[in-house]
Parts: sequence; structure tokens; C-alpha cells
Amino acid sequence: MKYLDKDSIKKAYKMKEAIPVVEAAFKEFAEGTAIMPPKQYLDLKQFNGDFRAMPAYVPSMDIAGIKWVNSHGNNPKKGIDSVMATIIVNKPETGEPIAVLDGTYITAVRTGASGGVATNFLAKKDAKIAAFIGGGAQAYYQCEAICLVRDIEEVRIVDLSPETTKLFTDSIAKFFKGKITVSSSIEECSKNADIITLTTPSRTPLLKSEWVSPGTHINAIGADAEGKQECDTSVLKKALVFIDDWPQASHSGEINVPLTKGELKKEDIKGSIGELVSGTISGRQTDQDITLFDSTGLAIHDIASAGAVLSSL
Ligand SMILES: NC(=O)c1ccc[n+]([C@@H]2O[C@H](COP(=O)([O-])OP(=O)(O)OC[C@H]3O[C@@H](n4cnc5c(N)ncnc54)[C@H](O)[C@@H]3O)[C@@H](O)[C@H]2O)c1
Repeated sequence: MKYLDKDSIKKAYKMKEAIPVVEAAFKEFAEGTAIMPPKQYLDLKQFNGDFRAMPAYVPSMDIAGIKWVNSHGNNPKKGIDSVMATIIVNKPETGEPIAVLDGTYITAVRTGASGGVATNFLAKKDAKIAAFIGGGAQAYYQCEAICLVRDIEEVRIVDLSPETTKLFTDSIAKFFKGKITVSSSIEECSKNADIITLTTPSRTPLLKSEWVSPGTHINAIGADAEGKQECDTSVLKKALVFIDDWPQASHSGEINVPLTKGELKKEDIKGSIGELVSGTISGRQTDQDITLFDSTGLAIHDIASAGAVLSSL
């Protein structure tokens, strides 16, 4: 059985490869061939963290497997990543183990790629200003994916930590040659942005609807556990909301808190990104629509990415 470390995976699988893999897996799941039970949580509130077990079967790649991943919001203060993962993949027909892969980079790149696919299907074609609320590990990958699917001229960033902000601006400057603006508030960062991407672990809504201009596309990435919410419910009510998976999004996505409070209903959700990709539903109708992608992270994307890495070696 192979073991693949982060460096060899990073060399084999870049964002431009991940975007089509993630898009194809969205379609395969929406069409009912891929199998993915909702992720299982192991909550450790005493450590402000949790673990998730995420199994999936991706028949087009003849691969099945499981990712074991955590999210511990206090880790960056200790110099450790918030999100770290390990993936095990097997032959679907016999169950034989094929490989163990470091899953931290795959998680980061496939999450960026899912934001990229959502942005490609939902953002205005002429989107130029991309705003990032939260500039930690995931923001880099979202920015990379967005810059691959739209001709971005300005990237704005707001983060609580000046050190994280500097790390973000320095690292994106390696591939983004446009204007980079450090904003002093979420309001300043969001106003008149064409795309707003949130990657914080916040349990208090940060983005207010009066700061979101008509036509904006929002990637709500950070809310991936019960009780997390980054956008005020008024933003969700104003937007055409697309999820990645109903069982996961209703339990732990951006919509979980307003659904529990009865402020939002299932009928308020437009559909899934998979349905958009497979063409069974439509996205934005006008350049004035506000669209929102509620991402919880799908195991099909981890296992399909692991399959793509293995077949490239
Ligand atoms: N949807 C998915 O598939 C998926 C995948 C990976 C991570 N996540 C989630 O995304 C979130 C971020 O993950 P990460 O790895 O980037 O974490 P991280 O700790 O590296 O970054 C989070 C950043 O948010 C900033 N932040 C927190 N509150 C803020 C506020 N009020 N205003 C501005 N900035 C603020 C922090 O300073 C930090 O830099 C977590 O909740 C994680 O669980 C979701």
C-alpha cells in the first residue's frame, strides 16, 4: 500500500487540475451515481474543535475511501493548521486498501476548487473585485480558484490578525498581479465587491445585507459545523442560495442556524451546485441577483481528488 505525503501530492495536483475534478464529482453526485453519506461529527467543545469522518464512492474513478479531518479554530495561535486530514482509499470491488494520503492539502485545494466551480457558475461574467473576509489557510485557495475562473483586477482582504493578512497578501502576490487592498472593516471590504468569500470559523454573523451590492456572488465557506454562521440571515433572504448537499448544509452549513430558528425554510434554497453543473436547475437570472454558495465540503471531492492524484503518478 502506498503512502503519499503532502509534497508529492502538491506537485501532482494543482488548482487548475482540481477545478474540473471537483466539477465532475458535483455532477456525478447530483446524477446519483456517486455515493456519499453525510459526514459524521465528533465534537470536542472543550478544545473548540471537532473531527469529521467522511466516506464516499466515486464510480467514474473506480475508487472508494474515507477522510478523517479536524477543525480546531484556536490552532493558528499555537502555530498549527486549523484543518488537517488523512485519507484512506480502497478498491470498491474488493475493499483492498490502495493508499493512505495526507489529506490536508487535498482538503484545502478541493475546497478552493468548489468555490471556483460555484463562482464560475454563479458570479457575473465581468466580476472584477474579489473580497475576502478571513485571510487564513483556506482564503489563499479560494483566491487562487476565483482568479482562475474570472479576470479579477482587485483583491480585498480583511482579517483580525495583521500577521495573517500579511501572509495572505504576500502569498497571493505570487500569482495575482492586480491591486491588493487591505481593508480596515468588513463593511469597507464588502461594499461594491463583485465576489465576497468568507472563510472564518465565526458563530456570529459578520456580513450584513446593506454591505452587499446587487449582482454580488458570495462564497460562504467557513460555516461547516453546527452553530457556525458568517452571513446575517438577511443576506440569505436576499440571495439565491445554492448548497453543496442538503443533509450536510442543513446540519452544519451557513443555513443551519437560521433553519433551526425557523427564519429560513427548505423552499428558500434554490438547489445544489451539482444540479447547476448537471443543468437541471438554473443559476442567476439577472446581473442584479445576489447569489450565495453554502459550502460544507464533500467527501466525493476528497476521494475524487485522491483518485486524480493516484492516476497522475
Ligand atoms: N466548507 C469547507 O469545505 C471547508 C473546508 C476547510 C475549512 N473550512 C472552514 O473554514 C474556516 C476557515 O478555515 P481555515 O483553515 O482558513 O482557518 P484559519 O484559522 O487558517 O483562518 C481563519 C481566519 O479567519 C479570521 N477571522 C476570524 N474571525 C474573523 C472576523 N470576525 N473578521 C475577520 N477575520 C476573522 C482569523 O483571524 C483567521 O485568520 C473554518 O471554519 C473551517 O472549518 C470549511
